[in-house]
Amino acid sequence: MAHASLVEARLADHVDRLGHEHPPIDLATVDYTVRRPRELDDRFGHVLDYMARVELEVDRNVLELTTLLPDPPEIDRRFYAEVWQPQETRHGVILDELQVHLGRPPAEPDLTSVGVKMRILGALAHLDAFQDVCRMLYYLTGMATERSAVLAYSLLHDGVVELGEDAVASTVIAPIRRQEPGHYAFYQLSARGLWSELAGWQRWMVRRMRTFSFAPVGAGDEDQRADFGELMRALGIADHTDEFAVQISRVERDLLWAHRRGLAVPPYVARALREAVELADARRAG
Ligand SMILES: [Fe+2]
Ligand SMILES: [Fe+2]
Repeated sequence: MAHASLVEARLADHVDRLGHEHPPIDLATVDYTVRRPRELDDRFGHVLDYMARVELEVDRNVLELTTLLPDPPEIDRRFYAEVWQPQETRHGVILDELQVHLGRPPAEPDLTSVGVKMRILGALAHLDAFQDVCRMLYYLTGMATERSAVLAYSLLHDGVVELGEDAVASTVIAPIRRQEPGHYAFYQLSARGLWSELAGWQRWMVRRMRTFSFAPVGAGDEDQRADFGELMRALGIADHTDEFAVQISRVERDLLWAHRRGLAVPPYVARALREAVELADARRAG
């Protein structure tokens, strides 16, 4: 089998498997029992709110996607419509319900506004060769996002266990965390497959566009970037942003920056995470 159809077959298997093995979390299995709501809120309320918003914003992400990829491969459409969106939406609903249980206001996801940049890209994406550049950016964003989610939920899980909130740890955070690696794997397979097909100018363009458009997951504006910095503080990684950067961009580095031997991490990733923490600290001080 040619390389491209091999990748296609693996992706189809993967999406089938995710669909079967990971239906959206059954709300009846979730136990919101919290022993000390004040403590949980103090320590992780902000993290719950941030992640609830990001998970709920998948509806807007799908809108952006259909703008960005007017003519997506069938497997991408199946993945986001049948697997990703239903799972993520449910994550958001559960996390939001939990924060309301703690006495916090519900998250305020932005579900509708597709930015100007995105619309311009979408218009250009009607050219097939450029659509592949957009698809590559989409897979790269997906990888960094899903990897960030896995790491954040792991740290959150440990923190919640430490607080003795076993019900939340085992019926909220653990089941959500379990669904994220499958998303990551989809984007990774897709990214590796597509990268090997891109022409030199397309690769160049991906590098350029990625360099000036990278942002941490869910951080569209400055306030949200500070919120992300706050999240890193709460999870204990604000002083280890470089390590976090390495972990969320390893495959991106290997693909896009293979020619820069010895590069530990794409500089724009490390910079964006550091900036988020600086913004959070400045906001807190001010
Ligand atoms: Fe999720
Ligand atoms: Fe995910």
